Amino acid sequence: MLPCFYFLKISIKTYRMKKYQSIFQRPGEHNKKRSKRPNNKDPIIMELNVMDLLTKIVNNKEPIIVVGLGYVGLPIALAFGKKVKVIGFDINSKKIQAYLQGKDPTKEAGDLAVKQSPVQFTDQEQDIAGGRFYIVAVPTPLRSDKFPDLEALKAASQLVGKVMGKGAVVVYESTVYPGVTEEICGPILEEASGMKCGVDFKIAYSPERINPGDQVNRLENIVKIVSAMDSSTLEVVAKVYEMVIEVGVYRAENIKVAEAAKVIENAQRDTNIAFMNELSMIFHDMGIDTKAVLKAAGTKWNFLKFTPGLVGGHCIGIDPYYLTYKAEDIGYHSRLILAARHINDDMGKYVAQSIVKILVKLKEDIKSAQIGFLGLAYKENTNDIRNTKVTDIIQELKEYGMTTMVADPLVSKAEVKEQYGIDLVEVTRLKNLNVLVMAVPHRQFTAMGLQDFNQFYRENSIKIIIDVKGAFCREDFENMGYYYWSL
Ligand SMILES: NC(=O)c1ccc[n+]([C@@H]2O[C@H](COP(=O)([O-])OP(=O)(O)OC[C@H]3O[C@@H](n4cnc5c(N)ncnc54)[C@H](O)[C@@H]3O)[C@@H](O)[C@H]2O)c1
Repeated sequence: MLPCFYFLKISIKTYRMKKYQSIFQRPGEHNKKRSKRPNNKDPIIMELNVMDLLTKIVNNKEPIIVVGLGYVGLPIALAFGKKVKVIGFDINSKKIQAYLQGKDPTKEAGDLAVKQSPVQFTDQEQDIAGGRFYIVAVPTPLRSDKFPDLEALKAASQLVGKVMGKGAVVVYESTVYPGVTEEICGPILEEASGMKCGVDFKIAYSPERINPGDQVNRLENIVKIVSAMDSSTLEVVAKVYEMVIEVGVYRAENIKVAEAAKVIENAQRDTNIAFMNELSMIFHDMGIDTKAVLKAAGTKWNFLKFTPGLVGGHCIGIDPYYLTYKAEDIGYHSRLILAARHINDDMGKYVAQSIVKILVKLKEDIKSAQIGFLGLAYKENTNDIRNTKVTDIIQELKEYGMTTMVADPLVSKAEVKEQYGIDLVEVTRLKNLNVLVMAVPHRQFTAMGLQDFNQFYRENSIKIIIDVKGAFCREDFENMGYYYWSL
């Protein structure tokens, strides 16, 4: 790290000398008195200041300040905390208290990592005043009309603008549509700081690509895209991230390219899953097992391996709307991306209606049927319940007058009650069921032995299992006399 940086320093020195020679000693002007001295607004001086910032960060003289300490901000703060001085700021005082007590509410990093981290956690604005390297990782959800909700991002920009020092670099990590960083965040920073973007401070964008619940693809081993408003800022941002990203960074051509790259990663995934979901609906009507079809088709080298399922959470189910919003704004109405979104958004309803059809087909009384759910998080092995689509199944069943019981040991009961008005029960309370919905196949559910499933059901009744994602083997359950259904 250091030798590389010193090399950079020497090159800058040489570059500065040459550049000033060319500015102040133009041909034929050697003996003229210099009329102008470089000032702080000179782009070269700015460039040197930015490089000086890197030295200070590396030497623990300038902290990295992470604004927004959730699923994205916390891991990045902890990772940088292992190398340099870091201040982690969040407006959520409860979260800060938890971190100060060595607790990780996201469960991604773990309590021990938080406890042992030297990161200075704070909810006090004055603690992040005068900083020169900010990373903003606040939420970018949707409004109820599915338009981008940039309020948190604007508020965080306002705050950073108010407190940042001269010569600061502000890196945004939140997922946005192309243009947000430069056209919305930059001007807010300017207004709040009274400083000029590109002159007194710089902006950059580095989208986060972590996958909560994934033990293999972690922050350190996912290539990080970095982008910035100019090449010297890009170099500093790249070098800062290189301290923690073991597999290296990718320098995008510009900020809009990086913003677009992030948003299409999720739109692509959404579209592919929607295709699988549509296939599943078609094959159900044809009486064909989708999983078996995909297994067969997957033997071709270029068949993409996606599977049907619910698409919830705050990334895949949301980011495509950011892109279609911007597309609409410039006059292009998306057909494919929005069609995929609509298909995926309706899958909860489809699962619920399939449950009702199965009960009718099996001549079970719908209203008295006991339906239990395993899993409520938006996806397996995470405690994140934001925008979970399991609640769509529950809501639709409710509309048929049916009652449900839900168990998810990973998620917070209080949060579920607050956000969805659902009273979670312990797994052991799921008894006397007619239908078990394996809604989210957390590791602890998939580790269960087949015989363990019998405990959930009413004696002498048909055992119906709805394995939403097809996490189990159909034959195994059918061999035990179950009625098995999956997408
Ligand atoms: N969670 C993921 O898997 C993931 C992956 C890639 C990208 N992203 C993107 O990263 C961004 C952050 O997502 P997240 O999942 O970490 O969200 P999160 O809700 O878990 O965390 C965001 C944090 O920001 C805080 N916050 C909100 N407004 C603030 C403000 N004005 N100042 C300071 N703090 C503020 C919140 O209190 C919260 O703790 C989003 O744009 C998201 O789309 C998330």
